[in-house]
Order: sequence, then structure tokens, then C-alpha cells
Amino acid sequence: MPEIYFDERVAKEYDADSADMFDPAVVDPAVSFLADLAGTGAALELGIGTGRLALPLSRRGVRVHGIELSPAMVAQLQAKPGADDIGVTIGDFATTRVSGAFRLAYLVYNTIENLTTQDEQVQCFQNVAAQLEPGGCFVIEVEVPALQRLPLGETVRAFHVSPTRLGFDEYDIAAQGLVSHHYQVGDNQLGVFSQPFRYVWPSELDLMARLAGMSLRERWSGWKREPFTSDSRSHVSVWEKAA
Ligand SMILES: C[S@@+](CC[C@H](N)C(=O)[O-])C[C@H]1O[C@@H](n2cnc3c(N)ncnc32)[C@H](O)[C@@H]1O
Repeated sequence: MPEIYFDERVAKEYDADSADMFDPAVVDPAVSFLADLAGTGAALELGIGTGRLALPLSRRGVRVHGIELSPAMVAQLQAKPGADDIGVTIGDFATTRVSGAFRLAYLVYNTIENLTTQDEQVQCFQNVAAQLEPGGCFVIEVEVPALQRLPLGETVRAFHVSPTRLGFDEYDIAAQGLVSHHYQVGDNQLGVFSQPFRYVWPSELDLMARLAGMSLRERWSGWKREPFTSDSRSHVSVWEKAA
């Protein structure tokens, strides 16, 4: 089993720390996008967390099931209204299977990068394809690797600098990995948290999809179907399983 980074301490603060991601201006377009793809079918969220998207998607009438590594994140989800309508399986989304077939599977907020090897990312696509109905879709929302913004010859890039919070990504270009370091001041204490990721290119994801019997259907830079261009910092991609 992969290491759990979203432990009790992180889970308790997750919604407050990611408040910008819970803003309806962020959530609503994502939920509409996913609801359109799910139609009358069921949806599977990989890394469901505290239900940021799963709960509003479920309220829209979509049957949602989640896979999640962290019992502490699930406990936060299950304390919220509407959680009874959402099934959760504790496990690694690269390998865990849930009974039933899904019209839609989705993996958002850069979480594919939590799988820190290429093999695990490939396995994740294969695991999703095995659980999709023919013609079903897999959606990933993930950053475009920020290597263009890394100063020449440097390996560390600040992604957040404010009086109470500092965040740095430390790149290992040869291994296509990075470690995000977070330092947060609160109540006279310094919270320190580091987590490893494997950054992944859009074309590499397309190849992983192909290996799993899926092909690219749409790629946008955001949930409102903004065009994906050379300047895009992230993408929302949809792969379809052969009918
Ligand atoms: C950045 S949070 C995103 C949570 C939620 N999807 C959201 O959008 O707010 C990533 C979540 O994925 C879970 N996760 C990370 N790696 C996982 C894995 N291999 N299998 C299952 N869950 C995983 C973490 O525990 C965490 O809850």
C-alpha cells in the first residue's frame, strides 16, 4: 500500500487549507462537466478525499462511488450531509476494484501525480479501463509540468510565498519527480509537510490511455472548456474506452 500523506492532521485542515478549491466558482463548472459525462450512469472518483466534488455531483443525481487511501479523509467526508448516498472503498486507486461498471471515472486536483512511479500511473489507467462501461470516459485534471518556470540550472521553485505560508517544489528532473515542501505558521507553531509526486506530461498520459484501450476525446485547459494552448498551466483531459 502507498504511504498515507493525508493523515488525521492533514484531513482535519484539508477543507480550510484548500478553501479556494471549494469555492463554487471552481466546483460548479467541474461538477457540470462531470455530470454531463456521467449522464444516467454511475461515477467513480479516485482519491475522493473529503467529497469536494463527489458531494455536489451526488446532489445533482449522479450515483458516485469513491476509492480513497486515507480513512481520515473518508471520516471527514462521512461527517457531511449527503455522504450516506456515496459509497467508499478504502484502497489504492491504482489497483483497487469496485463492483459494478461505471460510465465515468475521474481523478482531479493533480492527484494522478500522487502515484510516484510510471508503472503505478500506467496501472491506474488499466484499473480504470477495467471498471468502465464500453464508451465510458476517464477524466483527469492535472497541472502541466512547470519546468518552463524553473530557472535554468535550478531545481527548486516557490509555488506559494506569503507571511504565514511558504511552499517549494524540489525537482528531480532525471527521475521525473518532485517533492512539495509546505511550511505553515499557525498558533505559534510551524507546521511542516513534504510530499513526493511524479509529474506527468499530457502526451505521456495519452500513451497510458492507449495502453489501457482508451483514446483521447477532449483536452481543455479548464472545466469551462477553455482552449488548451502552449501557455496552459493545467489541463482537463477526457479519454474514452472503446465501445
Ligand atoms: C489532493 S486530495 C484530492 C481530494 C479530492 N479529490 C478533492 O478534489 O478535493 C488527494 C486525495 O487522494 C488520496 N490518494 C492519494 N493517493 C492515493 C492512492 N494511491 N489511492 C487512493 N487514494 C489516494 C489522498 O489520500 C487524498 O485524499
